[in-house]
Order: sequence, then structure tokens, then C-alpha cells
Amino acid sequence: MNEIAAMYAGAGLPPGFHEAAAEMFERAGGQARAGLNGRRPTQFNHVAVAAKDKRRSATFLKDLLGLPEPTSWGRFLSLTLDDGVRLDYAEPGTEFPGQHYALLVSDVVFDRALERLKTDRMPFSAGPGQPANEINHNHGGRGVYFDDPSGHQFELITQPYGVDL
Ligand SMILES: [Fe+2]
Repeated sequence: MNEIAAMYAGAGLPPGFHEAAAEMFERAGGQARAGLNGRRPTQFNHVAVAAKDKRRSATFLKDLLGLPEPTSWGRFLSLTLDDGVRLDYAEPGTEFPGQHYALLVSDVVFDRALERLKTDRMPFSAGPGQPANEINHNHGGRGVYFDDPSGHQFELITQPYGVDL
């Protein structure tokens, strides 16, 4: 097990999941080095997201944010964000802890997502331990928290943390 596979091993996912993720990282890293002599800035590329039902989870976020249809890739169902980062949904077939994912979105996308949460009567709040059915106005923007169908805690913000410091 290499270093990247070892990192994934702590996530409580089955062994095949770790190896597939490590292979993807290695392939992406090799392409970047070969094409740009190592000058490509380090960017977040993709993350494996555990799902109870990968189709349901990917479609949930796709509809919320108005993203293109997710695409199948082996055992993954990939949802690509506007900056090219992929959320690679997969079903580990075991229990897994909910993780926290925060996405920076435009005001237009935030409005769309909030409207959809309200229409679908999905619980949302201004933050952990904060009032339900409210958003926050931290950092000079807006923020909202909600769970996806797999129990992950998602956050949408219109301003990154710290811009007002
Ligand atoms: Fe956060």
C-alpha cells in the first residue's frame, strides 16, 4: 500500500476503494508533471465521496447547484464542479461517517440552492448548533448548511472564510 492508499485506509472504506483512488492520484500527477515540467500550480482535483446511493447523492447536488449530469467511471459516479474538481461518489457497502464539504458558490447558485432546499423541505441551518431554516451572513457573504442524502454535512458559502479579516 503506497502513501496515498494509506491515507485513504483511515477513512473506513474497503481496500479496493483505496487502491483505485491512489491510482487516480498517480495518473493525474504524472500527466501534470509530464505536460508542464512541474510548473503546474497545485490544485485540488477530486475526492472520493462515500454514498449510500451514489446516483441519489450525485443527483441531489447536481440539481441543487445546476451542474451537468454526473458521469460513470468504473465504480464511481463523478460530479464535476465548475472549476473542474470532481466529487467521485462510490458506495463502500459499509457504514461510514459523515464528512464536511464546503463549496464556494455565486450568489445566483446560492439563491437557486436555497430555493430548492425550501421547495424540497430539506432541513437547513445557519451552521452547526445554529437556528434551523436560517442562513448566516459571515465574512460579508451568505452561508447555509444541510445534509446530503448520505449524511454528509454540506456548506455553501458566497465568500471564503477570512476575507473580512
Ligand atoms: Fe466549513
